[in-house]
Amino acid sequence: MADQTNESGGEGPRLLEHEYDGIREYDNPMPGWWLLTFAGTVIFSVIYLFNVGPVGNGKGRIADYEAEMATAAALQPATPSRPAAAALLAMASDEEAVEEGEEVYQSYCASCHGPDGGGLIGPNLADANWIHGGSPDSVYNTIAVGVLAKGMPPWEKSLTPKQMSEVTAYVLSLRGTSPTNPKPPEGEPYTP
Ligand code: HEC
Repeated sequence: MADQTNESGGEGPRLLEHEYDGIREYDNPMPGWWLLTFAGTVIFSVIYLFNVGPVGNGKGRIADYEAEMATAAALQPATPSRPAAAALLAMASDEEAVEEGEEVYQSYCASCHGPDGGGLIGPNLADANWIHGGSPDSVYNTIAVGVLAKGMPPWEKSLTPKQMSEVTAYVLSLRGTSPTNPKPPEGEPYTP
């Protein structure tokens, strides 16, 4: 640099006075921009230290993380609670609920279970026999979680809890009806 002179008075690094075990060193200061950056990190570290727990008054990253997780958890809908068997049975004899359920059924279920529940790819839903149980709870559960390995999709996530109950009520109301082209019974007979 221009302001540095060596021992012979010319330009170049200056030799420092001291000597240790015959070793002498040049005066090579760090460049200004480097020193500024370094000083900046020191200042930043002090500010940072006072912003985190437990040293400073900040909450700290673990508490921040937990707060964010709690907010996210609060945004998640609670797992839909299952309706009581008695409520489903009552709905099965409630004309309005059954009609709503039939609409859901015709949109999502008829392609596999037939337009009147007589069965196509899926089993007959109007007879007394059930592969996965014919109690209101069992029927609701089969519709909710499906039987993926056998081609019955789970519906709990794609239907609202209301639609779930209504379509279950509709399926329960099919018992004893006579579909036009019924599939033979499968599974065990269920007596309410
Ligand atoms: C992609 C075809 C398909 C669709 C769509 C479908 N199912 Fe199924 N469903 C099946 C099959 C296949 C089975 C038989 C599962 C087995 O053999 O274990 C079944 C079984 C069932 C059972 C159990 C029957 C028993 O005997 O235990 C119920 C109840 C049922 N479905 C209701 C519904 C409802 C309600 C819907 C509409 C929301 C629906 N399914 C949509 C294919 C389907």
